[in-house]
Amino acid sequence: MARKSSTTVAKRRAKAAPKKRAQPSKPKRTKAAAKARAAKTPPPPPVTLAVIGAGTMGHGVAQVAAMAGCRVLLHDALAAALQTALRRIRANLEQGMKLGKVSKRDAQAALQRIEPVNDLADAARGADVIIECVPEDVELKRNLFRELDRLTRPGAILASNTSSIRIASLAQAAQRPDRVLGLHFFNPAHIMALVEVVRGPQTSQYAIETAVHLVRRLGKTPVLVDDSPGFASTRLGVLLGLEAMRTVEEGVAAPQDIDTAMELGYRHPMGPLKLSDLIGLDVRLAIAEYLYRELRLEHFRPPEILRRLVRQGRLGKKTGLGFYRWDETGKPQPAPI
Ligand SMILES: NC(=O)c1ccc[n+]([C@@H]2O[C@H](COP(=O)([O-])OP(=O)(O)OC[C@H]3O[C@@H](n4cnc5c(N)ncnc54)[C@H](O)[C@@H]3O)[C@@H](O)[C@H]2O)c1
Repeated sequence: MARKSSTTVAKRRAKAAPKKRAQPSKPKRTKAAAKARAAKTPPPPPVTLAVIGAGTMGHGVAQVAAMAGCRVLLHDALAAALQTALRRIRANLEQGMKLGKVSKRDAQAALQRIEPVNDLADAARGADVIIECVPEDVELKRNLFRELDRLTRPGAILASNTSSIRIASLAQAAQRPDRVLGLHFFNPAHIMALVEVVRGPQTSQYAIETAVHLVRRLGKTPVLVDDSPGFASTRLGVLLGLEAMRTVEEGVAAPQDIDTAMELGYRHPMGPLKLSDLIGLDVRLAIAEYLYRELRLEHFRPPEILRRLVRQGRLGKKTGLGFYRWDETGKPQPAPI
């Protein structure tokens, strides 16, 4: 008997088998489809943020939050500082539009979400989360936390943007230390992607989760660290900055050569002395003094050159002169030290 060829068998089997129902095509992962999905997802609940201190960091934090759809109550002890902050935010957004990163509509909407508030109580009362951005001074911050604890509603989260101060020492000033934590943004806050979330010894899990959620909503990446002077980032960053200053002080190399060495040799996006100027030499000095006092490690002792520049009012980019002279276009030029 002739054997049926395997192709004939296959054809018959295919005929006998019930026809597969046509599968609905998978939704396409196009931009339009993503938009449609996003339109169906309810927007996250609005968060009202109070930013206290509208200087270098405060204005940037306010801008980021407003761009993410939060209502922002921006307060500063000085009315003039509030006006400067609003001007800086407008300038940042204009730059963003020029670069095609921000649409005119989003920029206008963000500006409308920021309310300058002259009275601390008015800013604190209405907020879900308060981010303190006042200068790096333990007593100043402790007094502020005492006030904020009294003025805010019980469920509000109290965060400090401190670069180095133990959260525990700020939380001690509050009746409810479980809602106090660190939210350490980086400079410039509207550009830098990292936020260090600092868990104090008494910070509740609820406060941490709320803060991490907020950081993600702001489009930033959180790293969670335990409470210790200088946390993880400042301890390392300041060390490099202070060592670079000692290298200038000892006459080993000029600031621009040290920075070039770190930029090209170690692939740092910005050398440690340019970065110190950007942060503010007064801020760096306050942090170094605090870390030296708390950790008693010789390498955190502030170098004399740093003290001298601060005494002379050479605070870095914000005063136009530090380790560099900062020209009108915001570029650093070599300066006599
Ligand atoms: N500068 C940086 O690069 C940087 C980076 C990360 C974190 N930080 C931290 O952020 C905090 C703020 O630093 P900054 O560089 O923005 O300082 P800044 O001096 O630029 O601004 C501080 C602002 O706080 C205001 N202020 C002072 N006392 C106040 C009070 N009692 N109530 C309300 N406002 C008050 C001042 O008028 C000023 O406008 C510090 O803790 C600092 O360590 C700074």
